[in-house]
Amino acid sequence: MCGIVGYIGHAQAAPIILEGLKRLEYRGYDSAGIALIKGSGFSVTKQTGRVDGLSQSIPPDFGGGTTGIGHTRWATHGGVTDDNAHPHISSDDKIALIHNGVIENYAAIKRFLITKGYEFKSETDTEVLANLIAYHFAKEPAATDDSSRLLNSVRKTLHHVEGTYGICVLCADHPDEMIAARRGSPLILGVGQDEMVVASDVAALVSRTQNVVYLNDGELVAIKGASFTISTLDATGVSPVIDQVDWTVEDTDLGEYDHFMLKEIFEQPAALENAMRGRFAQDGATAMFGGLNLTANEIRGIERVMFCSCGTALHAGMVTEHLIERFARLPVECDHASEFRYRNTPLFAKTLFFVVSQSGETIDTLAAMREAQRKGFKVLAINNGVGSTIAREADGGIYQHAGPEIGVASTKAFTSQLVLGAMLALYLGRIRDMSFREGTEIVTALKQAPDLVRETLKLAPQIEQIAKRYAHVEDMLFLGRLELFPIALEGALKLKEISYIHAEAYPAAEMKHGPIALINEQCPSVFIVPANELFNKVVSSMQEIKARGGPIIAITTAGAELPDGLADEVVRIPQSHEVVLPILATIPLQLFSYYVAVERGCDVDKPRNLAKSVTVE
Ligand code: G6P
Repeated sequence: MCGIVGYIGHAQAAPIILEGLKRLEYRGYDSAGIALIKGSGFSVTKQTGRVDGLSQSIPPDFGGGTTGIGHTRWATHGGVTDDNAHPHISSDDKIALIHNGVIENYAAIKRFLITKGYEFKSETDTEVLANLIAYHFAKEPAATDDSSRLLNSVRKTLHHVEGTYGICVLCADHPDEMIAARRGSPLILGVGQDEMVVASDVAALVSRTQNVVYLNDGELVAIKGASFTISTLDATGVSPVIDQVDWTVEDTDLGEYDHFMLKEIFEQPAALENAMRGRFAQDGATAMFGGLNLTANEIRGIERVMFCSCGTALHAGMVTEHLIERFARLPVECDHASEFRYRNTPLFAKTLFFVVSQSGETIDTLAAMREAQRKGFKVLAINNGVGSTIAREADGGIYQHAGPEIGVASTKAFTSQLVLGAMLALYLGRIRDMSFREGTEIVTALKQAPDLVRETLKLAPQIEQIAKRYAHVEDMLFLGRLELFPIALEGALKLKEISYIHAEAYPAAEMKHGPIALINEQCPSVFIVPANELFNKVVSSMQEIKARGGPIIAITTAGAELPDGLADEVVRIPQSHEVVLPILATIPLQLFSYYVAVERGCDVDKPRNLAKSVTVE
């Protein structure tokens, strides 16, 4: 939700900020803006639309400043207008500020500031921050050490603020300073060669440096020239830990592909290999995870497993639920993270608690994790965001190592979560209730998964043709059973997200309890119907659709004998073990939604109204 970039250094700030914003557009893309320090004031350009549009609008006399801030917006408070775009400038023109998050008590602060003569030009919650900092800055006693004047003003402001923020602040009177702070929204400091970059995500700063400091909630960084200090809101100093980012800017480039989504779909074999690398025990026929921070004895004592996550990551948890129940004989519950935190679920002491999140920044998932921790549970994270807030606050976890995922619709992160979920089920199973032989079979099957995905990806041309035939429809059903029901949910979600076709998913047999009323020649159904113990049952469900004139697309396995003429389209994925099948069945659904969206002329990587990382509640 919104991307922010700040630069202070020796180079021209504008191109660096604009390039950073381009890389953060997945976080929001309804408007964008930039402000540079220029003389004793600011040069500001901001407008609705994308970062490319902003780049073209910057006037030649914008200024060659070496200090600046930029923002790409996903609107929360206030419509998508030029005035509501960030940066916001205080009404005395002293402070420029960008913000990611929501200021919940903005109305009260605004009323107060109006009584003090401050004027507002936007409908945003953010503008109160700029004006409140300006208010405190004006009030700071003249005797205050000049170098702390801005920092103190920001601190005083943040003490009054309820809600979430990642902010970056410039002051016209202190042109060599920048203050950034976070609570609930991600913020990373890149420490370069005589330059500093502050951003919502490492993607925006790896072109300048791979040395980063992940700020914690409640921390502020004060940058002056080429040096920085970190402190808390109550002015306690914090020793910075400088981490190294293990990927480069090339990993976030499109390469030969038209869209990041397609690139990331084709990166899935490598993502699976990276997730599994070094995580199988030679002689134990099991998986091993270095970061769980639990002994085998503690795992043996577990009586339940709980997963909380959002969107696609929730679907990964739902597939894992089936596999853990099947292999480890443990009851598993999956919940929407956004619901869990308010649901007052009875929780049992011996519960192993997981959150799943690609970004590691989703606020609902983070809040669910904190709620479980508050209740005394250790929470483990399956997470792709190295250094993300969830990764740092979790009590242990499993990194996905899927590499940066840029397309808003999650693809490689999902299948990487699936393979890790299967490995988790194997690991729990082997400690509890699974033979060496069955463990060996699963290890063998999982190791084959990347090659089977490569094989499945060869279906792309066939799926592209099918997608062209169905791209005009407005409603679709996705149907599967057991661990393939969450895959149907994922297929429907992908289609909704990027092609704006209304799609619903059901367990296949549940379809006759309502959704079948939707069926006609205009409403196709996608059935996931592998050759397994429920094959005939799913075929019966297909017959019921066929009898009512509904077109059918069947995702089935090689060799499965579907009745002639039952399906209008038949896509055959390789036959495989049940731990791998959900991964393979996902691939045609991803490709289908991708090609449908392309055919409909949709903006695949930046679908309307969505953001990749939802950092507001
Ligand atoms: C947003 C994205 C989804 C994603 C969900 C959870 O809604 O649009 O694609 O699945 O957030 O994100 P996370 O980073 O926590 O996996």
